[in-house]
Amino acid sequence: MKNVCVIGAGTMGNGIAHVFAQCGYAVSLIDVSQDQLNKAIDTIGKNLDRQVSKGAISLEIKESALRNISTNTSLAAAVKNADLIVEAASENLAVKLDIFRQLDENAPTGCILATNTSSISITKIASVTSGPERVIGMHFMNPVPVMKLVEIINGYSTAKEVTETIIDLTRKLGKIPCVVNDYPGFIANRILMPMINEAIYSLYEGVAAVEEIDTVMKLGMAHPMGPLQLADFIGLDVCLSILNVLHEGFRNPKYAPCPLLVNMVTAKKLGAKTGEGFYSYTPGSKDLVVSKRFSK
Ligand code: CAA
Repeated sequence: MKNVCVIGAGTMGNGIAHVFAQCGYAVSLIDVSQDQLNKAIDTIGKNLDRQVSKGAISLEIKESALRNISTNTSLAAAVKNADLIVEAASENLAVKLDIFRQLDENAPTGCILATNTSSISITKIASVTSGPERVIGMHFMNPVPVMKLVEIINGYSTAKEVTETIIDLTRKLGKIPCVVNDYPGFIANRILMPMINEAIYSLYEGVAAVEEIDTVMKLGMAHPMGPLQLADFIGLDVCLSILNVLHEGFRNPKYAPCPLLVNMVTAKKLGAKTGEGFYSYTPGSKDLVVSKRFSK
């Protein structure tokens, strides 16, 4: 396996391209927007610089990683010689189905089609292709260059050899594979999202304030971020959409999203990316400041 295409130049896409390129793969990063591709290359450069300054990688590795990445706005042209395609476009079923229909038409027969979806059914995505056995979930965690886990999700028809190839590849990227089956939320989000939702319910019901909820989980459970800060980091719209997938998929009220989360998403307070969620964010500052809406 040499040629890897990554579709989507957002946070996850640029992180995935970064890791493959750093490990010597030729990466074609694909997005409909050249502007987004330019921003992604800039971000990858800065994150590689950060690794160089920490002594985690050499300057030569940084330079070869950047040389290994090309950008492309035409999916059909870019995937022609791909051995593996990792789709990391927005978490929207219609968008993903459209991409996989195009991949089915344009990717070479032996190419593995992976999706970085955090909750959409792999089986459903695979159903629009003529070869569901080559479709698999490859769920990276944010920030991709730092987080060790890749949750590998077998769709209903994923071939055993495809899973084995992806397990092997994950190890070559210096990451730890964990294979799970295709049910709503897989494992990562089936467990993470109810915790985040419960933290939001605790705030909504006045059990404790933002800082107390996060401090209990950071200091009491050794989590690097409290659940409310993590929700802001992931994006409140993403959290809501995953909770809806769990709620609808299991038809169980225990996954119903907290009304406060629904209100915040409706008000476009989506967390770090919009500058406000449970905390407010100032570009360039690492200070954690509770949003005025929730200050005591
Ligand atoms: N690229 C390269 N290196 C990066 C980086 C990036 N994008 N982001 C952070 N780093 C490195 C830093 O250089 C630093 O390196 P050293 O340890 O060598 O100094 C290290 O990561 C820690 O970073 P910081 O010092 O800036 O900050 P921190 O100690 O607060 O750690 C964090 C930041 C790694 C994000 C940490 O807070 C953390 O682990 N948070 C939880 C992350 C998490 O839970 N992610 C999963 C989210 S869920 C998901 O992704 C899936 C889903 O489906 C929703």
